[in-house]
Amino acid sequence: MPDTEKIEPGQLVALILAAGKGTRMKSALPKVAHLVGGRPMICHVLAAAAAAGASRRIVVVGHGAASVEEAARGEEVEFVLQAEQLGTGHAVMAARDKLAGPSGTLTGTIMVLCGDTPLLTGGLLAELWQSHRAAGAAATVLTAVLPDPAGYGRIVRERGERGGRVRKIVEQKDASPEELAINEINTGIYCFEAGPLFSALAEVGRENRQGEYYLTDVIGILAARGEKVWGMTAANWQETLGINSRLQLAEAEAILRRRKLEELMENGVTIMDPASTFVDAAVAIEPDTVIYPFTWLEGRTVIASGSSIGPNTRIRDCRIGKDAAVCFTYAYECEIGDGAAVGPFVHLRPGTVLAAGVRVGNFVEIKNSRVGAKSKIPHLSYIGDTDMGERVNIGSGAITVNYDGRQKHRTVIEDDAFIGCNSNLVAPVTVGRGAYIAAGSTITKDVPPKALGVGRARQSNIEGWVEKRR
Ligand code: UD1
Ligand code: CA
Repeated sequence: MPDTEKIEPGQLVALILAAGKGTRMKSALPKVAHLVGGRPMICHVLAAAAAAGASRRIVVVGHGAASVEEAARGEEVEFVLQAEQLGTGHAVMAARDKLAGPSGTLTGTIMVLCGDTPLLTGGLLAELWQSHRAAGAAATVLTAVLPDPAGYGRIVRERGERGGRVRKIVEQKDASPEELAINEINTGIYCFEAGPLFSALAEVGRENRQGEYYLTDVIGILAARGEKVWGMTAANWQETLGINSRLQLAEAEAILRRRKLEELMENGVTIMDPASTFVDAAVAIEPDTVIYPFTWLEGRTVIASGSSIGPNTRIRDCRIGKDAAVCFTYAYECEIGDGAAVGPFVHLRPGTVLAAGVRVGNFVEIKNSRVGAKSKIPHLSYIGDTDMGERVNIGSGAITVNYDGRQKHRTVIEDDAFIGCNSNLVAPVTVGRGAYIAAGSTITKDVPPKALGVGRARQSNIEGWVEKRR
């Protein structure tokens, strides 16, 4: 979208502050780019903002800007650079030009968020926006009542009561002992009307303990002007938790994981042991699938109904059909067809496509290959760069020899072929429709349809050899 786009009244723009360093993560990666629930922290916030109805999402970047932009790749977002981090108020100021209309007018509602709150839901943000509009407020702060408010800005209410108007926010480091006793805190999430926000920001100074431009000062300035400043308390404070350390990252991971598993169970998926099941946020699973223990389902994996997955299985970015059974398997970037049976001890690498009813069993690796319907690769095989037809039977230990040390070549095995045990198919090579390969053969030439390919030394028996050796 062009920078000069005007914000229509009634339009919601999300402004996500993510220029800070996140020192306590002790990481070369900016905090908001860390993965949680299988995607970068900031992407959870972006998703919640979109779900709440934000028509634009603008991210303020600074520290590790390139990594943050990379983390949000594929999302429809705009970026603003805050070259020097002089505080949250300063960060919002950095976005002024992006938010102003062609004639410099500032209208509409701006929802300010932080990039480090991955537990936020679209529902809570929609509620905040709704509450802000219903109150007709110039600013609405999302607050939370915490068992331990240490470290957060405290909400000072107009009449010392919960709900209703807010008088100011006091940062922990600047608070009096009475203010420190307040356990209603600033989550760092707000709705502002753009005009009042920027007119108040112009008055914000940095005369405080941290020498920063505090966004929180806008609240006190607006309230002192007699503008309506509202506070909405989140029913579930966990949703607003910010991540500052690896410990909190792990706690958020656990909450997101539990949330995903509960959503799946509510939608009809059986999860035998939630404690040992890990499912990324973007994974989709249809009802009547059963997930056995010690299973990781990652990335953009999609599983159709009636499947059985696990135990001891890790699947990333795969598409699995109806009524498939996959156990003791590591598979990534593959397709597994309806009714296919995979495992135990199977490794499926990128580009593997198993059609309906395929069986892949013990100690088999498949890479970049298509396997036709009802074909069987039951034991001890390596199939690479292969186009396999339907109803093919691959004997135990048969492999494709796809690499000559310089290049990869393809193997073609047509419908109904039967590959004997321990054969080597040296690519490029084609085994014709219905052909047989004798066990132990090394096949270097094409085998015509319905032929028998034999490529091994003939057996000779030496009569009485044992007696003669004595
Ligand atoms: C802020 C609030 C505090 C609130 C808390 C909730 C202020 C002054 N205080 O404190 O009331 O309880 O969040 O978590 O706002 N950022 C920038 N540029 C900057 C500074 C910060 O983009 O120059 C970003 C950070 O990356 C972060 C967010 O703003 O995502 C919050 O900054 P942080 O320094 O963590 O503020 P807190 O001290 O936690
Ligand atoms: Ca913080």
